[in-house]
Amino acid sequence: MVNLAVIHYSQTGNVYEMAKTAADEAAEAGAEVRLRKVAELAPAEAIASNPDWAAHVEAVADVPEASLDDLEWADAVMWGTPTRFGVPCAQLRQFVDQTGPLWQQGKLANKVMSTFVSTQTSHGGQESTILAMNNTFYHWGAIIVGIGYTDPAVFNLELGNPYGASHIGNAGAVGEHQRLALSIQVGRVLDIAAKLTGE
Ligand SMILES: Cc1cc2nc3c(=O)[nH]c(=O)nc-3n(C[C@H](O)[C@H](O)[C@H](O)COP(=O)(O)O)c2cc1C
Repeated sequence: MVNLAVIHYSQTGNVYEMAKTAADEAAEAGAEVRLRKVAELAPAEAIASNPDWAAHVEAVADVPEASLDDLEWADAVMWGTPTRFGVPCAQLRQFVDQTGPLWQQGKLANKVMSTFVSTQTSHGGQESTILAMNNTFYHWGAIIVGIGYTDPAVFNLELGNPYGASHIGNAGAVGEHQRLALSIQVGRVLDIAAKLTGE
């Protein structure tokens, strides 16, 4: 059985919806799944000034925070982040920046890494955000898994991002296209992780 950690940050719920979808898909496919959020860094005043943000913080109060143990445990990690000026959010990067001890011991090498993203606009930086995460994964010696054009559905213009499942906030809530993309991505991640672990 593959151990999959789905580690994400979400301010207003889009990425959380994607993370839940990925976690549910993986559990249904037989993986052992840990759905985790990373710690919030923003000051309470900033959160309180945005009702959607404050409501989301409350909604995910019971979702456990990611720890280094989750990374050590995982055969594969799916990362979810909103785009922030074309790159991943600081909260997710802060978590990644704590992985030095694991990296130093080679404990992140050969694990499968894959990223999904939410932006506001279609050209707002989905690919640059995913690629920025991949830079780190090369340093870890991890195995980067995207979607590729491995399924005819990726040729669908509304869905098709071979880098990883992507959501555009301006186009509406997370819906069937993102769920399909996530299910293809989860399938590839679990398949490749199973081959690597021999399970
Ligand atoms: C500080 C900041 C920077 C952002 N930068 C971008 C950006 O570069 N491109 C974009 O399309 N959306 C950008 N957004 C919008 C978010 O990525 C988008 O609303 C996303 O759906 C939020 O996901 P969430 O609901 O999981 O928090 C930005 C939002 C904030 C708060």
